[in-house]
Amino acid sequence: MHEREPIGVIGTGYVGLVTAAGFAELGNEVFCVDIDADKIRGLERGELPIYEPGLAELVERNRERMHFSTDLQPALDQARLLFVAVGTPPTYSGDADLSAVDAVVDAMPPSDRHALVMKSTVPSGTGASIKRIFAERGKGGFSYVSCPEFLKEGSAVADFLHPDRVVVGDDGDWAGDAVVALYAPLDAPLVRTDVKSAEMIKLAANAALMTRISFINEIANVCEATGADVVKVAEGIGHDRRIGKSFLRAGVGFGGSCFPKDSLALKQLAANSGYHFQVLNAVIEVNELQKRRVIGKLADRLGSLRGKRIALLGLAFKPHTDDTREAPAFVLAGRLLSEGAGVVAWDPVARIDGLAGVEQVATVEAATRGADAVVLVTEWPELADVDWPAIAAAMRRPVIVDGRNMLDPDSMRAAGFQYDAIGRAASNGPR
Ligand code: UGA
Repeated sequence: MHEREPIGVIGTGYVGLVTAAGFAELGNEVFCVDIDADKIRGLERGELPIYEPGLAELVERNRERMHFSTDLQPALDQARLLFVAVGTPPTYSGDADLSAVDAVVDAMPPSDRHALVMKSTVPSGTGASIKRIFAERGKGGFSYVSCPEFLKEGSAVADFLHPDRVVVGDDGDWAGDAVVALYAPLDAPLVRTDVKSAEMIKLAANAALMTRISFINEIANVCEATGADVVKVAEGIGHDRRIGKSFLRAGVGFGGSCFPKDSLALKQLAANSGYHFQVLNAVIEVNELQKRRVIGKLADRLGSLRGKRIALLGLAFKPHTDDTREAPAFVLAGRLLSEGAGVVAWDPVARIDGLAGVEQVATVEAATRGADAVVLVTEWPELADVDWPAIAAAMRRPVIVDGRNMLDPDSMRAAGFQYDAIGRAASNGPR
């Protein structure tokens, strides 16, 4: 086998760790760097800072090829390609906060044998300004490649190993060729382009996915007004190959560490150059309203929510992750508390630390016992196996809002529930 090139990975969050473990699996020696000493010590002991299915096994299997340090030097000594996977959270203005990326750029020594390979999601134009900074500081020999990441939390390992495509944006020098060679064993379609276009591909891909979600959520809201069933509507339009089936699940809106921040970052990227991105503004606004519509559904059933006990099932922004960043459950909890309701929450892995006034319990039964209503917020597979008739019997009022259209309306009604979902008015009455 052709010898695999050692790489450095700076940042050991979701993207960094999955990238590191994925390349180790392909046979590369990987030198991981993070400024967080506790995290690095934990990783050296084989402890992962995040929950991601399959990742612990991948790291364990490739331990010999994965090296962890708070020091950049081993990575610089051993690798030419330094993948950057640090956080780019939103600032108060909604622009991406690039301070962690800037710190990496500052830490690079002058070199004509290294390249930064940007995995972090950054505004289009970031690569150009980094190259300018390198040139101004006598580090013009440093190469730069944009290699955006498209993995999803919860299926990140599979997404890395079986990507829909690999995007490499570069200046046509050795570094772009080296990144292409790294990904070659995955046999994925390759899009090779300039740096700015690669950066824009990442932002546009996420914007397209969010647009689909807000679109189907608006269709769901119209379905509620007209008596149609959005689940059937999504199925019906999804068969059209030009439309496709994925990302048409109506629900309580999107959350997570990416969509909310990336929508703001793209909106501000456009606005900073004087362009008003109308579709994206609507996508963001629909998503904000969508989370709040659940409160109206509960009030329709219960009247005033003051003093009512509401159970939230699911805290993570989606199943198979412990990530609660921008999770709809937190907005719902906040709204319920401000309406004067009592909130009790269950999630198999995520914690609600940091939200005062919400009680978290270990089982669905404990969360729902004596509750006036339950809201299914995250479609954890565990919820398919719950004894719903027993849950309904133990509630003060058997009201459920299925915020992910996960459960079967007829079975839930047969179980004794007053069942509401998102965009499924048709199932309330005769077909
Ligand atoms: C998203 C993208 O899907 C990835 O391709 C991208 O790499 C990543 O952001 C990123 O930029 O790092 P992720 O945030 O992990 O991945 O999760 P998704 O599976 O995309 O879900 C995002 C949110 O949309 C969740 O709250 C989910 O519940 C919601 N969603 C998704 C819907 O409400 N309906 C759908 O049909 C699909």
